[in-house]
Amino acid sequence: MKGQNLDYHENSRQYYGDVLEQSSDLKTSACCPAKAPPNWLKNAYARLPDEILAKFYGCGSPLPLDLEGTTVLDLGCGTGRDVFTAAQFVGPNGKVIGVDLLDSQLDVAKRYAPQLTKEFDLPESAIRFAKGPLENLAAFDIEDESVDIVISNCVLNLCPDKSKVLAEIIRVLKPGGELYFSDVFANRRLSTELREDPIFHGECLGGAWYWEDFRRHLAGLNIPDYRIMSRSPLDIEDEEMARRSDGVQFESVTIRAFKLDSLEDRCEDYGQTVIYGGSVPSAPRIFELDPSHRFEKGRPDRVCGNSAAMIQETRFAKHFKVVGDRNEHFGLFDCAPQSSEQSESGSCC
Ligand SMILES: C[S@@+](CC[C@H](N)C(=O)[O-])C[C@H]1O[C@@H](n2cnc3c(N)ncnc32)[C@H](O)[C@@H]1O
Repeated sequence: MKGQNLDYHENSRQYYGDVLEQSSDLKTSACCPAKAPPNWLKNAYARLPDEILAKFYGCGSPLPLDLEGTTVLDLGCGTGRDVFTAAQFVGPNGKVIGVDLLDSQLDVAKRYAPQLTKEFDLPESAIRFAKGPLENLAAFDIEDESVDIVISNCVLNLCPDKSKVLAEIIRVLKPGGELYFSDVFANRRLSTELREDPIFHGECLGGAWYWEDFRRHLAGLNIPDYRIMSRSPLDIEDEEMARRSDGVQFESVTIRAFKLDSLEDRCEDYGQTVIYGGSVPSAPRIFELDPSHRFEKGRPDRVCGNSAAMIQETRFAKHFKVVGDRNEHFGLFDCAPQSSEQSESGSCC
């Protein structure tokens, strides 16, 4: 939704350029991860300089597994924590691009880039940063269908035109590519007063996604199923802000969505089974497509058509054996469709 009076870009520039110097300057915990990251990520963060960790303003750990050889694009990369973390997993044939509105954020990231590129044993061109608004990725020569994975950490809420940003994401993703992002969600549309309050906006609350609008946005882009990887309620510690937003339940959420033509708006049963081979790095025993779909190595699991597609038509295909196709249909998959707000996933069980 567009701000009417508040200039969202200018407010982000002021908030992240002038008001905040490090994470501890935030007034609320909205831009702080609500959930501990997994060990494979903790170990990667431990290899990053203190300054980058101190200037981290994200609300999650939006990095999926299996990054080897991929091109990763981080939208609103700030000082680069997630760029430099992804860089540790893409390897010499991969690439990570960070985009942000602010020189002051990018300057910190660029200062560390040569040193970290060397430390992670990557070619010079593996890490790149670009300045500008996410609403126009074409301006940074990010071409159609050129990116495997788009990540973003507590940024999309700050954008004045979310549908434009989502459309750009879909444009640059390769078929079968993945959007994996953390952001702030709310159980209702916020009042204009809160949406346009500079502090609510800067703290990543004013532009929080309303669940049903998010679902509608994705459905409009032909993504009728997405998966909620984690969600944790956010407490607003600032008394005045808590009073003004009384009744709004904010959450820090991590979402996974794939660019696939074959997704349906319900889980349909085609009698398909998947067997995980145990070959995803850092997941030798269990691979989690989402919290309701944890595939144990060697165990056949029945899945709906959408889950099968998320495995068979993406970079995960090489790690699975998929039995069955969509030639025979057995009706709705045996999980009741729920509202996107209550469900642990966007559509599927
Ligand atoms: C909450 S911080 C998160 C930064 C980073 N992802 C992290 O985890 O540390 C939001 C960042 O998004 C950037 N930003 C806000 N709106 C933007 C836009 N429309 N285009 C590009 N960057 C934007 C800000 O400059 C800031 O660095």
